[in-house]
Amino acid sequence: MRKVVLATALLLAGGAFAELSAQERGKGGDPERGKTVARQCVACHHLDKPDAKPTGPSLLGVWGRAAGTDPQYAAKYGPGIKESGVVWDNEEILDKYLENPQSVIKGSRMAFRLADPQKRADVIAYLKTLK
Ligand code: HEC
Repeated sequence: MRKVVLATALLLAGGAFAELSAQERGKGGDPERGKTVARQCVACHHLDKPDAKPTGPSLLGVWGRAAGTDPQYAAKYGPGIKESGVVWDNEEILDKYLENPQSVIKGSRMAFRLADPQKRADVIAYLKTLK
């Protein structure tokens, strides 16, 4: 019995710790909250259809896609993005990009930054659902 109690206590403590460090890293994004955050993206991006907007590539299916490969936006991408070798299947890289696009892709034409780490984590979780 004692062992069971101890094991449970350790499990709970471990869980709480994992939760905290996840929050500190701005991870554990919530797709529902991310949907609200993504309202800031639709000025420039379609999220619900594959068509590019004049102002930006479609983000439908962007998770897992190589950077700079929306065919409809091909002629409009800025310098560097197609050659970057970046693939949007890495949360940390996408997080950095949303914080400051130019820090990931020099010469990026995305004139938008999302300063709040929790909002970035949430919107990334939401982007993953756009298939
Ligand atoms: C002011 C317009 C604008 C806003 C707002 C904006 N973006 Fe962008 N975004 C762009 C442009 C322009 C590009 C193309 C960048 C380039 O050519 O270097 C881009 C590119 C991207 C890419 C790379 C796509 C690809 O095909 O490789 C991602 C991912 C992205 N944006 C995510 C977002 C998210 C998520 C938001 C909202 C939180 C957002 N953007 C808000 C203009 C915008």
